[in-house]
Amino acid sequence: MSLMEWSDIYALGVPEMDTTHREFMDGVNAADSAADADFLPCFDALIAHTVAHFERERAWMERLGFARDHCHLGEHERVLTLLNAVRDKMAEDGDLALGRRVLSEMPPWFDQHASLMDAPLAHYLKEQAGKDSRPAVKSAVP
Ligand SMILES: [Fe+2]
Ligand SMILES: [Fe+2]
Repeated sequence: MSLMEWSDIYALGVPEMDTTHREFMDGVNAADSAADADFLPCFDALIAHTVAHFERERAWMERLGFARDHCHLGEHERVLTLLNAVRDKMAEDGDLALGRRVLSEMPPWFDQHASLMDAPLAHYLKEQAGKDSRPAVKSAVP
């Protein structure tokens, strides 16, 4: 059984975000099921994907002026700092147990993060997209 399983409860209704979150789960699962010889490259791929994932969310927040000072960005930074520190430690001493342990923490972390931080961002993105696509509202603006 995979460490992370997609479920509709994770669907936040912003296709690009939902796709990225599915890919994140796939990356966690790929690293979790990797043999030791393949573990570091899989962990690196997960970090690279997570950098892009978090950067996309930061760019949305920036563009829409949504909660730029919110703890969401700090949370992203903490997770990336942790993943990079664990990656460096594994590269240094060859002990992969720490990395595998961190992966096991990803499902509860993602549950919390998606519902408390990504969901409000998705809600705001949808709200703004709705405003942009309503011609009657737009034409009413002088
Ligand atoms: Fe996210
Ligand atoms: Fe996020």
